[in-house]
Amino acid sequence: MTQVVLTEVHGKVGLIRINRPEALNALNNDVVDGIAAAVDAFEADENIGCIVLTGSEKAFAAGADIGFMKDFDYMHAYKTDFITRNWERIKTARKPVIAAVSGFALGGGCEMAMMCDMIFAADTAKFGQPEIKLGTMPGAGGTQRLPRAVGKAKAMDLCLTARMMDAAEAEKSGLVARVIPAEQLLEDTLKAAQTIAGFSLPVIMMIKESVSRAYESSLNEGLLFERRAFHSSFALEDQKEGMAAFIEKRKPAFKNR
Ligand code: CAA
Repeated sequence: MTQVVLTEVHGKVGLIRINRPEALNALNNDVVDGIAAAVDAFEADENIGCIVLTGSEKAFAAGADIGFMKDFDYMHAYKTDFITRNWERIKTARKPVIAAVSGFALGGGCEMAMMCDMIFAADTAKFGQPEIKLGTMPGAGGTQRLPRAVGKAKAMDLCLTARMMDAAEAEKSGLVARVIPAEQLLEDTLKAAQTIAGFSLPVIMMIKESVSRAYESSLNEGLLFERRAFHSSFALEDQKEGMAAFIEKRKPAFKNR
């Protein structure tokens, strides 16, 4: 049987690849459980400092699997806790997760990318929330994360008209961090992920936690959270090492503690 989720380790980076090309990487339970298991494994691996989630050249993921969902009734969706049960493992990862998006990121695919900490897009990427065409609505965070990323006007436009947004528009509106030529997407994303993973792991996690807090709190609460995390960084051996290395004009040797 084909494995619908593949993993590779590149130095200190864990790569997760969605592998259902025949269905444009549509997300069913096997795929989502596979992604969650891969995140679990990379989170537990001390050697890994950053995770990359990608799909194929044609599709990051064309949404939740429509065949899988089509006969759901309300009680089934409610009792099985559809989406909440297994889709949000990426959200709870403590190590940074970068989505490397080439081709379609639609519906649940766009939502899965938005659960990551940042999106690097190939120039071929297309983002959208076309659920309205299916008689349903975004249900994996699209109505909440999209307005936070691109503002209410564009989020309403995408969710209500089902139109797709290309990579240039996605970058201009703040959904993606970088646009990269398609043939270089994975290489450049892995390079950025290696850069991150080369820093001190507790500091990487503190920064991720603090930036994420900006979306969950008032400015003053967020600033307080940041300040406490910053203060706690002075307890790290890696802070002593990083600053000593700067003064001594040498490369720091971080020990992740
Ligand atoms: N679920 C299941 N199968 C899918 C799929 C999906 N979301 N998206 C594509 N596929 C399948 C197609 O059925 C097709 O399979 P067959 O070859 O067996 O017919 C195969 O992938 C290739 O797709 P197309 O032939 O349609 O490829 P295309 O290049 O002509 O079109 C596309 C590409 C515009 C992305 C089109 O496939 C499409 O519109 N897909 C559906 C997108 C969508 O509506 N996504 C939202 C899903 S609902 C959701 O995600 C809910 C949520 O918020 C959690």
